[in-house]
Amino acid sequence: MDKKDNKVLGHLICGILAVFSVCDVKADDPYRYYTWTVTYGTISPLGVPQQVILINGQFPGPSLEVVTNNNIILNLINKLDQPFLLTWNGIKQRKNSWQDGVSGTNCPIPPNSNYTYKFQAKDQIGTFTYFPSTLFHKAAGGFGAFNIYQRPRIPIPYSWPDGDFTLLIGDWYKTSHKALQGSLDSGKSLPFPDGILINGQVTTTFTGDQGKTYKFRVSNVGFSTSFNFRIQNHTMKLVEVEGSHTIQNVYDSLDVHVGQSVAVLVTLNQAPKDYYIVASTRFSRSVLTAEAILHYSNSHTPASGPLPAPPKYGLHWSMLQARTFRWNLTANAARPNPQGSYHYGKVPITKRIVLASSPAWINGKQRYAVNRVSYINPDTPLKLADHFNIPGVFSESTIQIQPSDGPAFVATSVILTSLHDFIEIVFQNTENTMQSWHLDGYDFWVVGYGSGQWTEAKRRTYNLVDALTRHTAQVYPKSWTAILVSLDNQGMWNLRSALWERQYLGQQVYLKVWNPVHSLANEYDIPSNVLLCGKAIGRHP
Ligand SMILES: *[C@@H]1O[C@H](CO)[C@@H](O)[C@H](O)[C@H]1NC(C)=O
Ligand SMILES: *[C@@H]1O[C@H](CO)[C@@H](O)[C@H](O)[C@H]1NC(C)=O
Ligand SMILES: *[C@@H]1O[C@H](CO)[C@@H](O)[C@H](O)[C@H]1NC(C)=O
Repeated sequence: MDKKDNKVLGHLICGILAVFSVCDVKADDPYRYYTWTVTYGTISPLGVPQQVILINGQFPGPSLEVVTNNNIILNLINKLDQPFLLTWNGIKQRKNSWQDGVSGTNCPIPPNSNYTYKFQAKDQIGTFTYFPSTLFHKAAGGFGAFNIYQRPRIPIPYSWPDGDFTLLIGDWYKTSHKALQGSLDSGKSLPFPDGILINGQVTTTFTGDQGKTYKFRVSNVGFSTSFNFRIQNHTMKLVEVEGSHTIQNVYDSLDVHVGQSVAVLVTLNQAPKDYYIVASTRFSRSVLTAEAILHYSNSHTPASGPLPAPPKYGLHWSMLQARTFRWNLTANAARPNPQGSYHYGKVPITKRIVLASSPAWINGKQRYAVNRVSYINPDTPLKLADHFNIPGVFSESTIQIQPSDGPAFVATSVILTSLHDFIEIVFQNTENTMQSWHLDGYDFWVVGYGSGQWTEAKRRTYNLVDALTRHTAQVYPKSWTAILVSLDNQGMWNLRSALWERQYLGQQVYLKVWNPVHSLANEYDIPSNVLLCGKAIGRHP
């Protein structure tokens, strides 16, 4: 029985019991309904008119503001000239990879057509985003904030802020998404980005009252570059990272890598004037800087003085900072129990995976590979091929779970795992550039960052006590990052580079989390409104 049926049943019972006025309407979690229309529009974020993707006329798209466990019914109408999907970055889609909105799980919504996503923000709280997963649409916009607030009576481990600001920050191109995609398709790499935008603009103002404390939710919605975020003359208290409540350390500046989100508290405790908010690219060929303004409501003085300086040190500083992001073990997250009541460091590891990514030239074109396999999207989503037993769409035996020598090749690769496996994944970066890896359907403990080649001896350096969970982990140049994942969510889940060029050119794979027993307790049924495409056309859900 799905949620909808539950609700109907709940209402029926209420209807009968209402006569005796003992009805309790807690029978179900609230539903929120949205209709979003996706169109092209023309705006000039960097001073040059360009084609962008609008959602209900907005760039960036509307913010989703929901409460833990809300059910979301979102009808997405595609008015572009290309097929389109949105994916929900960091939303776990429990038992429900059907709604993940990536090419391995969903058929894209054809032009002039629609699809209604139905999912629950189950047991999650915090700062997330959504963005288009199809083609190179992300380069034109279509992204937005996905903020999940706590349920009534579930406390958060800090005072309720006086206001809540969302900052979607990312590198940006003046070139259209079709031109960028065309250049990748022809085998060329992307040029360096043209600028960075904050909420789709180069000048944004955030206004607050002197003496009050505001939450700033900062997400990196860009393509390829990490940024450092800071506010002139103000410190930031870190409270949340992608759904984890952290030890509340105070920072002058924070590095945020592609695909990641953090939430900080900022107290307006300075003289009443305006101050610069700055995001500048890190570890990049040249430095791009975006500015916004923090305006005190009683200020009559514009921001002045030098922009707050970036950190003096680079990679090592950043890695040290990353290690200070820790779980507050006694604080709860979306659920009432403390985060630390799950002793992840004591769970036996049932599978160990090492993924090395590398650039590859295949048929004269730039590609990226993971353990030698450069992923290509099939015409039939993996999830549908699996459901309908359609052979020949993907292979569970192509990709090795340890790096090996030899040339890279193109394939549709899936790593098979079992429901309730507890796995270690090590991301090995052999290149000179920053990387960022994202896993759909999960958050995971980031237990270690280190430079050089990972070896088994590095396990001794893991944080097995208070590492935080998140959905996207950075991997420093010529370094490794280790994560632990509790595979408690059955489905077909995309594990990908959050750097969009790399993802597009093959640096991704799917994790099939599987159990031979067919049970609705483990995974929901195929949705009745499922879109069919490729070899799944004509099948009956
Ligand atoms: C398209 O929208 C209509 C409502 O306007 C809805 O009934 C239908 O289920 C949607 N199609 C899909 C595939 O979700
Ligand atoms: C951890 O969370 C608890 C419970 O909400 C809170 O009282 C405490 O101040 C937090 N500790 C740190 C170091 O952030
Ligand atoms: C504010 O920051 C600037 C640097 O951006 C610095 O020169 C100045 O001393 C700071 N003022 C205060 C009151 O901290």
